[in-house]
Amino acid sequence: MSAGPLVLGIESSCDETGVGIVRGHTLLANEVASSVAEHIRFGGVVPEVASRAHLESMVPALERACAQADIDLTEVDGIAVTAGPGLMGALVVGLASAKALAYALNKPLYGVNHLAGHVAVDLLEHGPLPAPCVALLVSGGHTSLLHVNSITSGITELGSTIDDAAGEAYDKVARVLGLPYPGGPHIDRAATGDPAYVAFPRGLSSRRDQERNRFNFSFSGLKTAVARWVESRQRDGEPVPLADVAASFQEAVCDVLSAKAVDACAATGATDLLIGGGVAANGRLRQLLAERATQHGITLRTPRPGLCTDNGAMIAVLGAEVITDGGRPSRLDIGADSSLPVDRILL
Ligand code: KG4
Ligand code: ZN
Repeated sequence: MSAGPLVLGIESSCDETGVGIVRGHTLLANEVASSVAEHIRFGGVVPEVASRAHLESMVPALERACAQADIDLTEVDGIAVTAGPGLMGALVVGLASAKALAYALNKPLYGVNHLAGHVAVDLLEHGPLPAPCVALLVSGGHTSLLHVNSITSGITELGSTIDDAAGEAYDKVARVLGLPYPGGPHIDRAATGDPAYVAFPRGLSSRRDQERNRFNFSFSGLKTAVARWVESRQRDGEPVPLADVAASFQEAVCDVLSAKAVDACAATGATDLLIGGGVAANGRLRQLLAERATQHGITLRTPRPGLCTDNGAMIAVLGAEVITDGGRPSRLDIGADSSLPVDRILL
């Protein structure tokens, strides 16, 4: 077994209750209990429903993770937990659980940043991060380009979405197309048609945007354009070609994400690009990024899809990095921060 601290990680920022266990960069357990099925009929995550589901899933997930890793909780070197950003009520369940464990077991607590966790998870697959590198974070709640000098102390935001997150756009467009929530995987599967069927807008990609919004994103205009296109078809009594519209929408999202990510590498001189967050599981995004990265001599690091979506292992490995870098434990009275900025990695 490789060296490194043995860390328990707890994640509960949205609708996934995640408990992960790592030793350094080695993944020992990754248990995820999703409440997504309970949110489907509402077409989106209902915070109160998510919080209650975390409460019910936490202890069973913890027990399964310990069994899978074949460890006893008394052995861990530290307990890492998502302190933010995320849904307040959901975060509180994970944070309270982690504090209770830390207190009862007399172990150090590390309240860490969910977004940095999405970056750190790649350590489990591809080892140490070359510094500096660029990270493209694309999830249901966040879309940003990050410059990463150190995963535990040096993350700066180059740009982010000025309206909807990429995953949010997927989820909203899926609804317009009559596909279930969460829409990302459904659109990914449905997008087998012509990506040039409809020329949907590429947000903040004009020459003028190069100055003020070079690394920012906007997806709300695209979402509206798809909705208008579908409505006009329906008004005319014409069928909506799902495979073509899904492919055209997806192309617009992935074109912008990959172009700006590669541009961020060029602007900062980074030769490594990594992706994280739920949308990083997208097949077309991974393909387009791979093509463009190769063209520009950039090494692309793509965690496997199961590690891109929310999980406890990403929090555990971030905690392990913090411990290895000598980070001080968090106080037991830290509060959850629903809008924790990405440069506050440890609370
Ligand atoms: O990172 P994540 O699990 O949770 C948040 O922190 O938001 O991301 C969830 C988002 C959802 O919007 C979902 O539709 C999207 O990721 N997603 C995808 C795919 N799988 C999940 N979007 C596009 N393609 C996918 N294959
Ligand atoms: Zn996330």
